[in-house]
Amino acid sequence: MALTQSPLLWIVGGALVSYILYTRIALYLRRQRMIKEHGCKPCPYVFNKDPILGLDVFRDNIQLSKAKRILPGFRSRFLNLKTNTFHSRMMDLPLIATCEPENVKTILSLKFKDFTLGARTRAFSPLLGDGIFNSDGEKWANSRHLLRPNFARDQVADLEAFERHFKLMLKHIPKDGSTVDLQQLFFRFTIDTATEFLFNHSTDSLRMMDVDENNEDVIFSKAFTEAQDDIMMRTRLGFLDVFRPNKKGNEAIKICHAYVDKFVDDAIAWRREHDAEKAAGWTQEDGRYVFIRELAKQTDDRKRIRDELMNILLAGRDTTASLLSNMWFEIAKRPEVWTKLREEVKSLDGRLPTYEELRNLKYLRWCLNESLRVNPVVPGNSRYCIRDTVLPLGGGPDGKHPLFVRAGTLVGYSPFAMHRRADIYGPDADDFRPERWETLRPGWEYLPFNGGPRICLGQQYALTEASYVTARLLQEFAAIESRDENGGVWVEGLTLTCASGNGTKVALTPA
Ligand code: HEM
Ligand SMILES: *[C@@H]1O[C@H](CO)[C@@H](O)[C@H](O)[C@H]1NC(C)=O
Ligand SMILES: *[C@@H]1O[C@H](CO)[C@@H](O)[C@H](O)[C@H]1NC(C)=O
Ligand SMILES: *[C@@H]1O[C@H](CO)[C@@H](O)[C@H](O)[C@H]1NC(C)=O
Repeated sequence: MALTQSPLLWIVGGALVSYILYTRIALYLRRQRMIKEHGCKPCPYVFNKDPILGLDVFRDNIQLSKAKRILPGFRSRFLNLKTNTFHSRMMDLPLIATCEPENVKTILSLKFKDFTLGARTRAFSPLLGDGIFNSDGEKWANSRHLLRPNFARDQVADLEAFERHFKLMLKHIPKDGSTVDLQQLFFRFTIDTATEFLFNHSTDSLRMMDVDENNEDVIFSKAFTEAQDDIMMRTRLGFLDVFRPNKKGNEAIKICHAYVDKFVDDAIAWRREHDAEKAAGWTQEDGRYVFIRELAKQTDDRKRIRDELMNILLAGRDTTASLLSNMWFEIAKRPEVWTKLREEVKSLDGRLPTYEELRNLKYLRWCLNESLRVNPVVPGNSRYCIRDTVLPLGGGPDGKHPLFVRAGTLVGYSPFAMHRRADIYGPDADDFRPERWETLRPGWEYLPFNGGPRICLGQQYALTEASYVTARLLQEFAAIESRDENGGVWVEGLTLTCASGNGTKVALTPA
């Protein structure tokens, strides 16, 4: 008997088809209702020519990446289409790209729960596990809750530690007017200070710079950089990554974990001892604040502590170094900016700056703000839409109407393009001009540290660190000269963060 003659099969099959049809139609109607309710209009601007996989976009991206012109290239898509929001594709993913402050505010804050980090977590998880930077929902909320108190203090950063590492950095700056790449020193400085802040043990890479010694700190520093490169590859390749042999990347990740685990074990052991002491009636705390110990007080889950520390190290190290390298690239080219900065630090009378004093260096703050505006360290970002939702702008030919976003869409946003919008910052939006901060009070149109519930936890730490290094260099040197071999034209050096692509080559004259 032919199967097709079985009445049962017909009934089951029919029910299934009706069910699928029903849910499809219900979904369609629900979406139409949402579109109507919110007055959404379709966005007519589409960037991809290949409608199925957006292969033209993929090719374009690879070319831009090779030419180190991803940032201007992505920005020109907005400018060429004459829109602040457009549709595109990233292989199998529909994409909406925007540089509209109101949309960014909606994604990151107003409709926070309609979005997740998306595919990013997969690329990062071998190194970062489930830490704050790499999780969503409950898990993320837990991490944030665990870590926030550690950043809530007014004075998160340890200026004495900065000074110790600064002195080591100073040794590597030639006093005879020969060229030095400050960027390399800044990256060493920030890993040395961040590891001391987090583990109470510094990689001390500035001390090790001229020593040809391969101790475990040096090996870790290298492995940490390699592990980040591995994340980059993973992100770029997407699902194709499974075909890539990456023994080296996995090895690097193992080294990083083993290095941090040692400190975690010490901290947990310390906590057990501490508990015993407390039980015996001792309540004495030793004065200095140690991040890893504070975590160990809150949990004794070894992997949890390691993951969080790794996440913070990743979030805090390259970012601050990139800010310094970008800002000093600009300062070196501008004698008038240099002179104003030098005038300002004279108020310190040659003393080491305190917290309070650093905060009051107004022109220095303008320079930091301006650097983060023109060359944001995190120039592009995205969120994955998990629930049908609506953005306030981008619909209709004028982009002034709400835009429907269906679940399963990636929404990319570009602080780089947004920070350079001439209609927001004026016709000189591309120029580095600190003075504009005299009157500028931007809201969501200025977003170097993100906003909403996931706003950067380390903003104060980073600004303090960058201010300290800058103020100290200004005290130690009387003059600067750019030695950039690219004629002072800044080019992107895009890894997980964005620093100057040709380094920060300068010559400094001692004061
Ligand atoms: C100039 C320096 C820095 C910049 C521009 C910066 C920028 C950012 C941005 C844009 C995000 C959001 C990422 C996202 O959600 O997709 C972020 C998150 C974060 N940053 Fe920073 N950051 C800097 C320095 C630091 C430092 C020094 C630390 C720690 C010591 C730090 C810790 C974090 C953490 C823990 C998160 C995750 C917050 C969360 O997801 O809830 N950052 N940062
Ligand atoms: C931190 O490390 C220093 C130097 O290794 C050590 O002397 C100090 O006791 C440590 N502090 C704490 C609180 O663990
Ligand atoms: C730098 O930018 C932030 C964010 O807009 C602002 O709150 C702050 O006042 C600015 N700082 C200065 C010195 O202009
Ligand atoms: C600077 O970067 C540009 C663009 O990537 C490159 O063509 C040039 O060779 C670089 N210059 C130096 C001196 O590295």
